[in-house]
Amino acid sequence: MKCVAIKGVKQFEIKEIEEPKSENGEVVIDVLKTGICGSDIHYWVLGQPIGLVMGHEYCGVVTDPGSRQDLKIGDRVTALPISPCNECPACLTGNPQYCRQTWAHATGLSLTNPGGLAPKMKIRPDMVLKVPDNLKDEEVAMVEPTAVGLHAIHLADVKVGDKVLVIGAGIIGLVSAMFAKMEGASYVAISEPNEARAKRAIELGVADEWFNAKDEKLTEKLLFKTNGGFDLAVDCCGNSKAVSSAIMAVHPGGKVVLAGVSMTPVTIPTVVAVMSEITIISSIAYTKEEFQTCINLMADKKIDMMKFVDEIVDLEHVQQSYERLTLGTDSAVKILVDPNK
Ligand SMILES: NC(=O)c1ccc[n+]([C@@H]2O[C@H](COP(=O)([O-])OP(=O)(O)OC[C@H]3O[C@@H](n4cnc5c(N)ncnc54)[C@H](O)[C@@H]3O)[C@@H](O)[C@H]2O)c1
Ligand SMILES: [Zn+2]
Ligand SMILES: [Zn+2]
Repeated sequence: MKCVAIKGVKQFEIKEIEEPKSENGEVVIDVLKTGICGSDIHYWVLGQPIGLVMGHEYCGVVTDPGSRQDLKIGDRVTALPISPCNECPACLTGNPQYCRQTWAHATGLSLTNPGGLAPKMKIRPDMVLKVPDNLKDEEVAMVEPTAVGLHAIHLADVKVGDKVLVIGAGIIGLVSAMFAKMEGASYVAISEPNEARAKRAIELGVADEWFNAKDEKLTEKLLFKTNGGFDLAVDCCGNSKAVSSAIMAVHPGGKVVLAGVSMTPVTIPTVVAVMSEITIISSIAYTKEEFQTCINLMADKKIDMMKFVDEIVDLEHVQQSYERLTLGTDSAVKILVDPNK
């Protein structure tokens, strides 16, 4: 079958790989929709690992239920892309997201388990979740990034009336802003250098105001607006400038949640963090419970994730979509791929 794999720096190729078969109880699915994630973009920019078939946010239809006797052919499912060991202290306390094994064979994020940028894929049976009929395929493909934002906001422990700054208006930033409001934040601001994306965040109603991240007076303006600093800043970007701006924007004793990822070490003003006793919390992925909560929130119409979906493309247009998402001037936030289109 045809798939899209990393070929080099900012370069994909369409190539043939073997169709997946259930050998160790895996659930095999036809991929209906798969999302392009900011983390995928990091791999594409690096051009490594060569041969990686990405796509860890997906909706599929079961063609072989493997060892999952509760599933049948035709069921629609999604899955946590992680591969926890189920034995270590993290796994045993319900935190598979930081199990040391969890990313080694993650679906769509490792060479051993190709992801949704192919018409079919196989998934570890214990990670698969059946989804309600009233969810659209697109919504199901949005569960994973939604759960990332939910986990970050759960860790942030937002209080009613908090002022929250979200750094970066990609999908992780937008979902974090949305959940911060749901948790009772009275004011949510977004800082973002891409004006088109930032304006979209306001139009979509997830944030109250945006600040241009390129503005040299950014910190000054943020502190003025909040009378001395935000209660919480959530970094959903990961670079030095972004993380530093988060630390500088909270009031003494405030909190910074790091959800953004950088593939290289970043420089941050630790003196500001230390002198102001800022609590820095790191957030990775989600628990299985949070993943299920996001499915429930969508099914119960408590959140609308369709509004973040910009376009659905076929495998031939994946390269072009990555280029569009990294232009820095386009308003697109989430492009989904239909590998069977
Ligand atoms: N912690 C986790 O579990 C987890 C999960 C998924 C993604 N991520 C990471 O979260 C980040 C966001 O993901 P995404 O899908 O939204 O990515 P994205 O690339 O779509 O969004 C990042 C946004 O940050 C903006 N930005 C760049 N520099 C900035 C600055 N100095 N200040 C403010 N904004 C700035 C960009 O213009 C862009 O809009 C990525 O680093 C991704 O790898 C983390
Ligand atoms: Zn993702
Ligand atoms: Zn483990």
